[in-house]
Amino acid sequence: MRVIKDFSKVIKVPREGVKAENERIEVPSKFERLDGVLISEMCLKRRIKELAKSISEEYGLIYAVVILKGAIVFFSDLARELSCEVEYDPLAVSSYKGAETTGGVNLSLDVSDRVKNKDVLIIEDIVDTGITLAWIRDHLLKRHAKSVRICALMDKPVRRVKKVDLDWVGFEIPDYFVVGFGLDYNQRFRNLPFVATLLSQ
Ligand code: IMP
Ligand code: MG
Repeated sequence: MRVIKDFSKVIKVPREGVKAENERIEVPSKFERLDGVLISEMCLKRRIKELAKSISEEYGLIYAVVILKGAIVFFSDLARELSCEVEYDPLAVSSYKGAETTGGVNLSLDVSDRVKNKDVLIIEDIVDTGITLAWIRDHLLKRHAKSVRICALMDKPVRRVKKVDLDWVGFEIPDYFVVGFGLDYNQRFRNLPFVATLLSQ
């Protein structure tokens, strides 16, 4: 086991203020590429509770569109904290290769026709250039959603290319490539219970 760095000071928590305090984190040595922890397990848990409370106040029924694969870990925690009724449908797109954006969006799994006339809440892991989310939002409106709002666990605003309004954001982070809690680097690290940064190699 090895203790990795604490980067919690660089994250900002928009709106409601949860203190971004990390506990000491030891990782098995097989995760030799991890550099530091950006958002700890406890911090994620607390913030997701807050988000759920705020979202629940706005909806009777949520039609959650969960963006695969990254957002499923976030959504599974969020869903169980929501106090309104929730229906959910996965949607899959691919827009990334390794740590570099390709700019294009490919739809590989679409939502069902039940999306028609629903108040949709898109659940996304992270917003970077905004290209993916802007495309998904337009797509869901074309599929006749009644309304489309967005909840993203993380936001990297400095990287934005395409303007997209985010209704709920868990954490605003600097321009770091992050993994864990659903996010991957070449399909690795999704199962980490915290959000971490990688060593550059
Ligand atoms: P965007 O279209 O540039 O906003 O990219 C959004 C998608 O890229 C997200 O849904 C993630 O799957 C992926 N992505 C962006 N930044 C990161 C990161 O730091 N780590 C892992 N995946 C990321
Ligand atoms: Mg994604």
